[in-house]
Amino acid sequence: MTTNRTFTMIKPDAVENGHIGAILEKISSAGFKIVAMKYTQLSIRDAQEFYSIHKERPFFGELVEFMTRGPIVAAILEKDNAVEDFRALIGATNPAEAAEGTIRKLFATDIAENAVHGSDSDENAAIEGSFHFSGREIY
Ligand code: TYD
Repeated sequence: MTTNRTFTMIKPDAVENGHIGAILEKISSAGFKIVAMKYTQLSIRDAQEFYSIHKERPFFGELVEFMTRGPIVAAILEKDNAVEDFRALIGATNPAEAAEGTIRKLFATDIAENAVHGSDSDENAAIEGSFHFSGREIY
């Protein structure tokens, strides 16, 4: 995985609320190319592993419950400066603090159900991308 890639998930709230199409449109319009994508559902073990960095936080149980309650869209995106530019496109973790026009401002419910994930570093983008996709699923 090269450093011009990031990893995203459209989370269960946004899928339930019918926002997959609108979010993919925002991602494409911002110049990201989708190089891998799948519609899937995380198991409890998947979510615990994916978010293991937060396992001591008080919201961990709710986060795992939320992330496993329905399907998600997982994708690897490619663009120059992908990680930073995608974090700007999605906005702050808490949608109440997210800038106008960002994906979380437009589509998130609250800090817990915040519509999308975006990797926070090149290193995590690589780890998270390979958590969900094998090399032969990336084009
Ligand atoms: P974090 O990595 O801090 O945010 P981001 O997704 O913007 O990188 O947190 C991971 C997820 O944990 C976040 O998207 C939603 C959830 N979360 C809560 O439910 N409550 C909280 O107080 C925080 C900080 C995060």
